[in-house]
Amino acid sequence: MIDHQIIIAIDGHSSCGKSTIAKAVAVRFGYIFIDSGAMYRAVTLYALRHNLIIDGEVKREELIGALPEIRIDFRYNPERQRSDTFLNGENVEEEIRQLTVSQNVSPVATIAEVRKAMVRFQQEMGRNKGIVMDGRDIGTVVFPDAEFKLFVTASTEIRAKRRFDELKSKGENVSFDEILQNIMERDRIDSTRKASPLRKADDALVLDNSDMTREEQMEWVIRNVEEKLEGTSSKFQVPGSR
Ligand code: DC
Repeated sequence: MIDHQIIIAIDGHSSCGKSTIAKAVAVRFGYIFIDSGAMYRAVTLYALRHNLIIDGEVKREELIGALPEIRIDFRYNPERQRSDTFLNGENVEEEIRQLTVSQNVSPVATIAEVRKAMVRFQQEMGRNKGIVMDGRDIGTVVFPDAEFKLFVTASTEIRAKRRFDELKSKGENVSFDEILQNIMERDRIDSTRKASPLRKADDALVLDNSDMTREEQMEWVIRNVEEKLEGTSSKFQVPGSR
């Protein structure tokens, strides 16, 4: 039996199913799942509501000054088998997924002070391990010592199609082109920003799920996590004690 816990870091491009994988892994191993992107989205929502973003321009200094006023927490929602995101006590899980937030989040996530505050909180949540966190800098900056690191990607068109179908099914009135543009723009900003750009950790496994079904990818991920858990558990065992 594997009874020790590890940290599982899942990074990768926008809309390639990181959260779906992270949630399924968390449910399978009884771990806590934290969607770090939700935190940047919640800060963005706060900024939008307080007129700290006008026509895509972030009022950087004012937003940095407001950081102590922004309280984010996660509360488990048994119906979704994952946590909802709360901003200053309000459940904003639905609102932070809307396209307006997606269109403004990348510039907010480039601000080093915002990142510093989020990373501190993320590290605190991972203190006792037993956590799956997805984002862009989890395996490189937040948990560079994570025992299992995954880097997920898929072709831009496939990612746009998946996000388009998801938003459509929620009744959002969006065009495919608008989504494709948003994904390409977020990839560009996420990968070229100065503070913690999106990059694969040297010791991360790569998963390109463009041509995989959900079942195939989950089977692949679970098998690899299990192998890692078995490998790390043997380190804790006295040789011959099995
Ligand atoms: O995973 P997501 O699409 O919900 O993330 C929203 C944005 O937040 C994304 O454009 C990049 C940013 N982000 C980040 O910079 N670092 C993270 N660890 C997670 C997300």
